[in-house]
Amino acid sequence: MMTVAQSTSTWTPGAILGIETSCDETAASVLAADGAVLSNIIASQHDVHQRFGGVVPELASRAHIESIEGVSAKALQQAGLEWTELTGIAVTQGPGLAGALLVGVNYAKALGYALNIPVVGVSHLEGHIASAWLKDPAFPLPSVVLVVSGGHTHLYYKQPDGRCRLLGSTRDDAAGEAFDKGAQLLGLEYPGGPAIDRLARQGKPHSIAFPRSHLKKGSLDFSFSGLKTALLYRLQAMDELSREKQAADLAAGYQEAIVAILVEKAFAAVRSSGVRALAVVGGVSANSRLRTLLQQRAASESLSLSLPPLAYCTDNAAMIAAAGRQSLLAGLRAPLDIDAQASLSR
Ligand code: KG4
Ligand code: ZN
Repeated sequence: MMTVAQSTSTWTPGAILGIETSCDETAASVLAADGAVLSNIIASQHDVHQRFGGVVPELASRAHIESIEGVSAKALQQAGLEWTELTGIAVTQGPGLAGALLVGVNYAKALGYALNIPVVGVSHLEGHIASAWLKDPAFPLPSVVLVVSGGHTHLYYKQPDGRCRLLGSTRDDAAGEAFDKGAQLLGLEYPGGPAIDRLARQGKPHSIAFPRSHLKKGSLDFSFSGLKTALLYRLQAMDELSREKQAADLAAGYQEAIVAILVEKAFAAVRSSGVRALAVVGGVSANSRLRTLLQQRAASESLSLSLPPLAYCTDNAAMIAAAGRQSLLAGLRAPLDIDAQASLSR
């Protein structure tokens, strides 16, 4: 599953600790030997970055350093385990902010060395994909997986052997980025996705129409940059009072343009690859309108749909532990000089 060079040897399944520090959440989680989630602790840095309207990498690294030990200890405590009962550690190796990743990777290495247990590096994307199987390990394969986060909008075909083939991706902004940039234009707080989601509930999704980029017929790629420009021009053409009065309809219309394309392309991928199962993961999968539309469509087409619980949508360490567990079971482990890889691909 991993793209980085790691050595192999057998691992007897036991409790494992997952660590995630790729962006603005310090997270730790413990899984039992059978993969059940025993704890899932997340220390969010939203308060730290809010006044800057986005993540400040230096501040993120510092906040991770301050939280990592306490968050990990809490994950152990909530799982009811001692450190010495851990049998492996999974840590996000990339992609993400270099300084932020380093905090988690170095902590994992030191802990693995001290406890004499294997450490395995995990791709953040692989973690998001694994989140679809956390609550329902029996969710069917093959399946189409849509990863929608702040940095990615990727459609995959996941084979029965667990390997993934890329079907389509964004040509410009990721879906989460479109939410965050739109929220900024609308004067909403960071992070923008949840802010648009909340405001849009008071608006009408079809009263203000925004362009939807389908790209060429049959394409499973996405493009969101035109949408953001359309919102900018529309806001510029309105006076302040109209902007205020129509804020909820603007948010609802803008959100609808993003989620309608996501739903359309995800189901087109399901159709073209002939599978009967769709998983949607990543921060944007927490969006209430997206969840409703996906559930309606899956029901009408009698498809199996995996939408992780909200705690597993946005960044968390349970998904990293789950992906790492698969790597450990496959016999992988990281060398002692494992390093963060900011631009790691799947
Ligand atoms: O997966 P995630 O936590 O981090 C990355 O890997 O990027 O995703 C974060 C993204 C942000 O862009 C955030 O605005 C978006 O997910 N997001 C949402 C919602 N909750 C988080 N977007 C739309 N609606 C939401 N409810
Ligand atoms: Zn993420």
